[in-house]
Amino acid sequence: MGWRDVSEEEILQANIEKYNNEHILSYYRDFKEPRYAYAEYDVIFSAILQMLATRSEHKLRVVDMCGGAGKSAFIFKKLVPQAEVTLVDLSEKMLDIARQRIREENIGEIEIVQEDAFTFLKREREFDIIVFSSAIHHFKDPVNLLNSAAKRLSDHGVIITIAEPNGLTKTKRYKTLAFLFCCWADKMTIMKRTVDRGMGLLTGEAAAAADDFDIAEYQAYKGINDLQLEYDLQAAGLNTLLHMQYPAGGEPFMTKIMSLCKLHWAFCLILTKKLWDDQKQVADGLQNRIGEGLPFKFNCL
Ligand SMILES: C[S@@+](CC[C@H](N)C(=O)[O-])C[C@H]1O[C@@H](n2cnc3c(N)ncnc32)[C@H](O)[C@@H]1O
Repeated sequence: MGWRDVSEEEILQANIEKYNNEHILSYYRDFKEPRYAYAEYDVIFSAILQMLATRSEHKLRVVDMCGGAGKSAFIFKKLVPQAEVTLVDLSEKMLDIARQRIREENIGEIEIVQEDAFTFLKREREFDIIVFSSAIHHFKDPVNLLNSAAKRLSDHGVIITIAEPNGLTKTKRYKTLAFLFCCWADKMTIMKRTVDRGMGLLTGEAAAAADDFDIAEYQAYKGINDLQLEYDLQAAGLNTLLHMQYPAGGEPFMTKIMSLCKLHWAFCLILTKKLWDDQKQVADGLQNRIGEGLPFKFNCL
């Protein structure tokens, strides 16, 4: 089966299976900062909160879509304890990890909804911040997804997509440098796969795994063309407040090195329903605040 033949329904099914798998769940259960620091979350979310503070008088409503173990939901709740925060995910087991963290870390009240994203977005609800963190690559049609989210957004609200892989992850330059930077165990796995693949020793599931043929990771496999995505979103009527590319997910000093090597492999989009009157001023303010807070350099497009 080729990638173009996979339907949204099949990708959904693959995600249900993937996030029910103990091997995947244990990664999220054992995940403790700062093993891998995702410095961009606090910085970007804080900058957005500061920007929205003057725009709305009612209680802030945030939803972390495909939020899994709750990373973004928890950051928002910690930054604004009085905010109404909702966490949506299709995997009951990922949500169980979130529930446990809420208890252990005293995070406060968070509404938890076990549902597929498209089903949830059909509900008549409104949010000021809709976050997709490392999530849109799990969908065949991210434009449709983000457009459905826009229908749930308040007039002054924003949609955030964060920590998504762009097309750079598919380039030889990225693969070579990622190989040089990774630990010895990962180097050995990559070398073994390359040798096995070259000798034709891999068949069936093993061959698919070696090619990262994981339907659940549909867009990660292809590497999202974030410029095209932004263009398509604009054509669908959404407005980009900020589009940035940056290195993510490594030890802090690694992200600095990756940035120096121009390995801006992740992207973040901040979207609104329509162009704001003070768009330029707001976008410049956001960019400056994020630039001051991030420990590495990033591209703004
Ligand atoms: C890579 S994890 C990211 C989790 C979290 N957002 C984070 O940043 O740590 C992807 C999550 O998306 C969820 N997911 C995948 N497809 C989904 C869908 N169609 N509807 C709701 N959740 C989905 C999975 O269950 C999983 O928890």
